[in-house]
Amino acid sequence: MAARLSPEATAIVKATAPALQKHGLAITTRMYERLFVDADIKAMFDQAAQQSGEQPKRLAAAILAFAQNVDKLEALTGAVERMAARHVATGVRPEHYPAVAAALLPAIRDVLGEDVATDAVLAAWAEAYGVLADILIGREASLYAEAA
Ligand code: HEM
Repeated sequence: MAARLSPEATAIVKATAPALQKHGLAITTRMYERLFVDADIKAMFDQAAQQSGEQPKRLAAAILAFAQNVDKLEALTGAVERMAARHVATGVRPEHYPAVAAALLPAIRDVLGEDVATDAVLAAWAEAYGVLADILIGREASLYAEAA
C-alpha cells in the first residue's frame, strides 16, 4: 500500500477541499484543456467517451473527491477497484500519471488564483495525488499481469 499523506498535507487538503469542490467544474474544464494538448492522451478519452456514451469528466471530479479521503483510504477499496478496471480497459499506464498531475495542479491555480492556491496548497495536493496514483498504479499492475 502506498505511503500515507503527511499530517501537514492532510490538513491543507481538507481545509482547501471545499474551495476546490465549489469550483470543481471550472477546474475540471481547465484540467482537460491542459491535458488534451497531448494527442495520445486525448485519444484515450475520445475512445472512452464513445464506449460509455458519457463525457469522461469523472476523472477530475474523482481526484478532487478522493483527495479528501486520503486519510481513510480503506473506505475507498470498492471505488479503487472500479477506477483500476476502467483504467486497464482504456490502457492507462504508470507513465500517464505525471501528465494528469501536470494538468490538474496548474488548473487549480488558474481557477482559484495564487492567493488561495499558494505553493504550499499545490504541494499538498500534489502529495495527495501521488498517494492516489501509487494505489491505482499498484492495482492496475496486478490487473495487467492477470490479463497477460
Ligand atoms: C489519481 C489519479 C486518478 C484518479 C483518482 C482517476 C479516477 C478516475 C475515475 C473515478 C474514473 C471513472 C471510473 C468509472 O467509470 O467508474 C476514471 C476513468 C478514466 N480515467 Fe482516471 N483517474 C486517475 C488517473 C488517470 C490517468 C493518469 C489517466 C490517463 C491519462 C486516466 C484516464 C482515464 C480514462 C481514459 C478514463 C475513462 C473515462 C470514462 O470512461 O469516463 N486516469 N478515472
